[in-house]
Order: sequence, then C-alpha cells, then structure tokens
Amino acid sequence: MIASNSSSSGVPTEMDRPWVERYRPIDMDDIVGNEEAVMRLRVIAEEGNMPNLILSGPPGTGKTTSIMCLARSLLGKEVYKEAVLELNASDERTLDVVRNKIKQFAQKKVNLPPNRHKIVILDEADSMTSAAQQAMRRIMEIYSSTTRFALACNDSSKIIEPIQSRCALVRYKRLTDAELLTRLIVICELEHVQKTEDGLESILYTSDGDMRNAINSLQATYQGFGIVNATNVFKVCDQPHPVAIQTIIGSCIQGDLMSSQKELTKLMGEGYSSQDVISTLSKVVRSGAVQMPEYAQLQFIKEIGDCHLRISDGVDTPLQLTALLARLCKIIITSKK
Ligand SMILES: Nc1ncnc2c1ncn2[C@@H]1O[C@H](COP(=O)(O)OP(=O)(O)OP(=O)(O)O)[C@@H](O)[C@H]1O
Ligand SMILES: [Mg+2]
Repeated sequence: MIASNSSSSGVPTEMDRPWVERYRPIDMDDIVGNEEAVMRLRVIAEEGNMPNLILSGPPGTGKTTSIMCLARSLLGKEVYKEAVLELNASDERTLDVVRNKIKQFAQKKVNLPPNRHKIVILDEADSMTSAAQQAMRRIMEIYSSTTRFALACNDSSKIIEPIQSRCALVRYKRLTDAELLTRLIVICELEHVQKTEDGLESILYTSDGDMRNAINSLQATYQGFGIVNATNVFKVCDQPHPVAIQTIIGSCIQGDLMSSQKELTKLMGEGYSSQDVISTLSKVVRSGAVQMPEYAQLQFIKEIGDCHLRISDGVDTPLQLTALLARLCKIIITSKK
C-alpha cells in the first residue's frame, strides 16, 4: 500500500507539507531533549529582556525551532509578524544585506509589549561572511535598546569572537534514542503509521540523534512501503543493514578472512560505497553489538578509524576495505599466539 497525502485538486494543502514542517513544535513544551538549553530559553520567555543569543549544535536538534518558539512566546503571534526578521542561508547575507536590511529593520518603529524587543533571527549564521559578521558588531550595540539577535549555527567557532562575546551561548546536543522515540511515536499515532518495533529502532540507529533525519526517514519509509520495518528503513536510508556488517565483524573475530571477504563482496555488489560500509562498520563496533574482548574492540576501532580517514581522503577503493578486514583478522590471530 502506498500512502498518499496529496490533494486531488493539485493545490498544496496542509497534508502536502513534509512531516518535519507539519510537526515542527509551535510551543516550547513540544521540544524534546536538551532540557537545560530549553529551560534557559523558558526563563528568558518568562522574564522578557532577551539577551543576544547563539544557539549552537548538531543539525536537526531543534535550534531554529527553539528560537521561533521563544520569539513567539515573547512577542505573541500578532506582533511576531512585524517584530521578527528571519534571515537564513538561502537569503543573501552579505555586507550589503546587513547594512541595509538588518539596519532598516533595527530602525523600524514597532509597538512592543513592555520589556520586549524586536528580534533578528539569523539562521545558519556560521555561513555568513566574516565581513557581514563584522558589520553586525556595531549594529548589535547601537540598536541594543530596541533589537536583539538570535543566531543559530552548527559550529560556534565560525562566529567571530566579538559577536560571541556579545551573546549568551546555548549549546544543543544530539538527541538520545529515547528522546527521538518519544516524538516519533507521537507522529506515528497522528499519521496512523503501521510500524514494527525493529522498524523504529532502525530509524533511531540511522538517524544518529538528528530528529529531522528521523522524521524524514519515517515519512519516506511509510509513504514508500506502507509499513515501517527494519528492512524497509534500511532500503530507504540506503545504508548497509547492520546485521550484514555484524556478520562481517563476527567472521573477523573468528579470524576467518575468506568468509568476511565474501560478505563484503556481497554488500558491495548491492551497490554500497566504501564510505557507507566503513561508517556502518564503525557504528557497529562502537555500539558493542558484537561480543568481543575489550582489547580487540579498541584495536578494531583504531584500524577502522585509520581506514575511514584514508577513504575520506579519497582512496575510496574496495581494496582498502579488504586490507582492513585482513588487519582485523590479524589482530585476533596474533593475540591467540
Ligand atoms: N528537539 C526537537 N523536538 C521536536 N522536534 C524537533 C526537535 N528537533 C528537531 N525537530 C524536528 O526537526 C525539524 C528540524 O528542526 P530544526 O530546524 O529546529 O533543526 P536545527 O537544529 O535548526 O537544524 P540545523 O542545524 O540543520 O538548522 C523540525 O521541524 C522538527 O520537526
Ligand atoms: Mg536550523
């Protein structure tokens, strides 16, 4: 069964919006995880007088969402439209934009509730040019009585020091499996998704603490196959099935190079790249899904890491993986002597 949400008239409706947007939390209470960060924002929302903020952390963890929720609860839905300027990486954020658009907005007169400020949301701020960031320093200071800035970024070190020193830094972490699961279950219920336990586990496994990725995988699997189970999730996410990788590692632990090589050839024959295989190898060994002595696990992680580096550097041939398997077998064989 293929689920379809499209309207028959061809006019986009609420049903056509991707689930990540449809289920973007409106209220701070719906944001899962990162309790400490969200709590800080909640205090700001209650007290008003928002400081300039930098929200920094991995993708899909709720930074943009949190800023929007904060602005909404500080200003209310009506004032939001007038008193918030949103700029993201798809807008040009060159020096001119900072000089004109942001400055004009900062100078604009808006009726605000007491102890509230206009808010400039600069999403993906780490992709702003350094000249544009420099120009913001003064604007931040000159208009600080009326306008505050909220910057979201993946890497706070790409924000120039003077801006960092003008902002309070709020750090976001990857979400835990339990946190991802809470939200996925809510969405599954609202969308009547047919799912299996191992299907949801596979989504958690492939999404690596990224809620956007998890929700997208859920939607793609459900709409592509009608049921969310492990096999379908791995097809959609286009990652090697961890069970296949566990078999490869299992053979290495037996010191059986031929069997592990046979499994690897089978995987490569299915079209996976060396990068796909090495990433899953690394995840499987680190997760401890395959029983092995601690010394072996440590050495496996080291060898896999070295090989990952070579592959990322561009030496992207199957031979690298075969050499890796040989090295892993050797670790076991020499330890037995
Ligand atoms: N903590 C969360 N709680 C609930 N939903 C979340 C959370 N984090 C992300 N999401 C979901 O993922 C989508 C993307 O989140 P958001 O845009 O806030 O991520 P981000 O941290 O800004 O990522 P990026 O660094 O890539 O910009 C949201 O629309 C929402 O559906
Ligand atoms: Mg964002």
